[in-house]
Amino acid sequence: MPTIVALSGSPSATSRTAALTDHAADLLRADGHSVRSARARDLPADALLSADARHPAIADLLAAITSADGVLVASPVYKAAYSGVLKTLLDLLPQYALAGKTVLPVLTGGTQAHVLAVDYALRPVLSALGAHHVVPGWFVLDRHIRTEGGAVVLAEEAERPLREVVAGFSAALHARAGPLTG
Ligand SMILES: Cc1cc2nc3c(=O)[nH]c(=O)nc-3n(C[C@H](O)[C@H](O)[C@H](O)COP(=O)(O)O)c2cc1C
Repeated sequence: MPTIVALSGSPSATSRTAALTDHAADLLRADGHSVRSARARDLPADALLSADARHPAIADLLAAITSADGVLVASPVYKAAYSGVLKTLLDLLPQYALAGKTVLPVLTGGTQAHVLAVDYALRPVLSALGAHHVVPGWFVLDRHIRTEGGAVVLAEEAERPLREVVAGFSAALHARAGPLTG
């Protein structure tokens, strides 16, 4: 069974990005993947700010990323790029930590004008970390994400394309794992 780390890079305690990431993680579990969800904001801030990769909580997550088959990297758009807290974590990954992995980039943002941040800001750093295959990602407007009684509800115009990119990510992982999985 392919293993995935689903990482949310929002600093917000009531994060739409985290809700979206949880939703995608549920879709991936339903499609036969083992998914570990993680939020950068749950890591110790002092260790992130001092680039302490040996802190046990950070070392544990880095090890999970390094050993995963796939990584979903999600972030809110901040100032036309991904968040600073996600950057502090990505900075601690070894240079080729994503080598051999399939990666799905996802951003949430307040304006459609920054949809290109997926390919201009997030994708390059994932490629530089050695990702084997960065599948087509997606950008979701913040107003298209809400929670209802604990469940994540996406607007129709966001739900369908998100399911398509998650399905593409899932298929790429199953294809790499071989015909006996899935
Ligand atoms: C400091 C800050 C900067 C932001 N910059 C942008 C931006 O440049 N482009 C954009 O589309 N949205 C921007 N936004 C809106 C967020 O990306 C958007 O609301 C996102 O869905 C928030 O995700 P979260 O709830 O997970 O934190 C910004 C929000 C904040 C708080």
